[in-house]
Amino acid sequence: MVGLIHKILFGMIDNVAGETAIAAIRQGAQIPNEREFRIDENYDDTEFQKLLAKTCESLGLSQDQAETAFATAFYNDSVQRWPTWFRISKNAREFLKRQPAIHNGFATGVSDPEARKAIRDKFTLKEEDDRLIVHYKSPNNLCGVYIKLAELILQHYEESATIEQKTCSRRGDEACEIHIVW
Ligand code: HEM
Repeated sequence: MVGLIHKILFGMIDNVAGETAIAAIRQGAQIPNEREFRIDENYDDTEFQKLLAKTCESLGLSQDQAETAFATAFYNDSVQRWPTWFRISKNAREFLKRQPAIHNGFATGVSDPEARKAIRDKFTLKEEDDRLIVHYKSPNNLCGVYIKLAELILQHYEESATIEQKTCSRRGDEACEIHIVW
């Protein structure tokens, strides 16, 4: 998982519970306090999963609450940090169509070929007249974050669309298939 995500997660924890909570959660996930996370560097997915689990446990958040809080923090960070992606996308569909390419851009800077491939393999997208069809497969199982972020992107552009999850790896499917239907 690219370090941008850890930074956003720490920001979210800081807002809710302050810096002492970050230190305790890092300790619980066995992440040395002195380690800096870089927004363009890749870190172990299993370690991230442990960090997220410890965050939920320590802040008393259900999976759904954690996904909502994280997606909101992610959206707020992205609007400020990457305004160009929002400016060049005229509507939610254009933005969501770009999302896998935005992600793959982060893979380019990762030197380990396996880690690079792991990032690139997470999302694929197909387009039909009335919908976008997203395939998401990742050991992090963050389809809930995908859906909440897609909702925030729709809100950003003041649009409405239906989001349908056809399959889910958390329910034992091979991958998640999510349709955004206009
Ligand atoms: C400017 C906009 C965005 C940027 C810069 C961005 C960047 C990133 C980066 C760097 C990661 C970590 C990738 C990895 O390590 O594999 C990530 C993960 C993720 N992003 Fe985005 N993202 C953006 C928008 C979105 C949007 C709009 C959605 C959903 C509609 C989304 C859904 C996700 C999900 C679900 C993950 C977790 C992937 C996983 O590890 O399983 N992102 N994002």
